[in-house]
Amino acid sequence: MARPATADDARDAIQVVRDAITACAADHRNDPATLERWLANKQPKNFERWIANPDNFCVVEEVDGKLRGVGVLRRDGELLLFYVAPGHWRRGLGRDIHAALETRAIEWGLPKLHLESTFAARRFYESMGYRPDGHARPLFGVLSVYPYAKRLRLLSAASKKPD
Ligand SMILES: CC(C)(COP(=O)(O)OP(=O)(O)OC[C@H]1O[C@@H](n2cnc3c(N)ncnc32)[C@H](O)[C@@H]1OP(=O)(O)O)[C@@H](O)C(=O)NCCC(=O)NCCS
Repeated sequence: MARPATADDARDAIQVVRDAITACAADHRNDPATLERWLANKQPKNFERWIANPDNFCVVEEVDGKLRGVGVLRRDGELLLFYVAPGHWRRGLGRDIHAALETRAIEWGLPKLHLESTFAARRFYESMGYRPDGHARPLFGVLSVYPYAKRLRLLSAASKKPD
């Protein structure tokens, strides 16, 4: 079950992010410069700032007491960060984390979610109901990212979470 992240999660959450990125060889193609740029801002101090930012909703998921997945939603509907630790893929963690972020987006009254997917994650987002939303663009060097969006059902005003 995903839960809201706290500042104490920063170190472990960033380790999950860094390990997952490093394992995405299909995306960074073992190009050292691309990997270095991709990892550059994935630091515990930055994660603490992302959590503290009231425009973000950050969740983590643990397996047997160890943090294994992380997701960050920004109030404009963009999924900023979404990673599951290598060795824990295809066990439903991504689905759980996504459900927590989508629930919050609906509570915020957002009409849609959007993101830029890695190549590796496209099938996951498609199975979460996203559709391609523009052209791929290069990032950090040899990496390509693919825009996706998902329309959300609207809640009545009374059910929305206050700011
Ligand atoms: C992409 C990622 C977040 C998915 O998380 P996950 O926990 O492995 O996904 P889930 O187990 O919840 O998968 C849910 C569904 O998505 C689909 N799916 C997930 N990974 C898939 C894959 N590699 N190929 C095809 N379908 C996939 C399946 O339909 C799956 O359901 P099923 O296992 O019952 O068939 C995770 O694999 C990951 O972190 N990958 C590397 C880093 C990355 O690219 N992150 C995204 C940055 S934008």
